Amino acid sequence: MKMHDLNIRLATTDDAEELLRIYTPYVEDTAITFEIAVPTAEEFRGRISAILQKHPYLAADSEHGIIGYAYASAFKNREAYDWAVETSIYVDQEWRDCGVGTALYQELERWLKAQNILNLNACITYPNPDSIRFHRGFGYRQTAHFTKCGYKLGAWHDVIWMEKMIGRRRNPPEAVIPMDALIRQMNVGKS
Ligand SMILES: CC(C)(COP(=O)(O)OP(=O)(O)OC[C@H]1O[C@@H](n2cnc3c(N)ncnc32)[C@H](O)[C@@H]1OP(=O)(O)O)[C@@H](O)C(=O)NCCC(=O)NCCS
Repeated sequence: MKMHDLNIRLATTDDAEELLRIYTPYVEDTAITFEIAVPTAEEFRGRISAILQKHPYLAADSEHGIIGYAYASAFKNREAYDWAVETSIYVDQEWRDCGVGTALYQELERWLKAQNILNLNACITYPNPDSIRFHRGFGYRQTAHFTKCGYKLGAWHDVIWMEKMIGRRRNPPEAVIPMDALIRQMNVGKS
């Protein structure tokens, strides 16, 4: 697939079933996510809608349907953490290593910079060499290693955290623009 056939766009709640189809094998067969039961489509719709109020949720659309998604969510819920997010990404197992993840993360960073977000944090089950290489390629570096902190599929698993800084740290910092406000601003700019 050529990259110009890929359309990275904001996800909508109508994408829930397709995104869940991508996510399900990672839940059922791997410890890449620590979620153990596959969420319902209704639950997934709720998650997309909640995330989109504050942060970007992106889908990689192609002639084959949606083949990957990425989003940012709050790193921690206290206000002083507003400039930090957790990033998450899942590419359809059939479409890995084709540049889909790269296209999604590039667009995710574009939105996050527009919001004045400064810190990106990724939580990665260890080992996951593909994800670690991918994040390293994007400029993330490892900051923490937690030992056997999750139990799934009959085994205990470690996680690492990787971080990346994407902006200048001013004092005071520019306020974070919530995603719904940013989208409204852009729509006003268009008319
Ligand atoms: C990790 C993951 C998100 C990476 O996404 P991806 O789409 O496979 O990654 P990309 O194809 O963009 O990049 C992977 C490699 O392909 C290369 N690549 C990029 N565009 C390419 C293209 N058009 N053709 C061939 N290769 C390409 C990249 O250079 C990269 O190589 P490198 O890692 O040696 O630098 C994906 O494999 C995935 O979903 N894994 C399972 C879920 C997961 O682990 N998520 C992260 C949880 S923390």
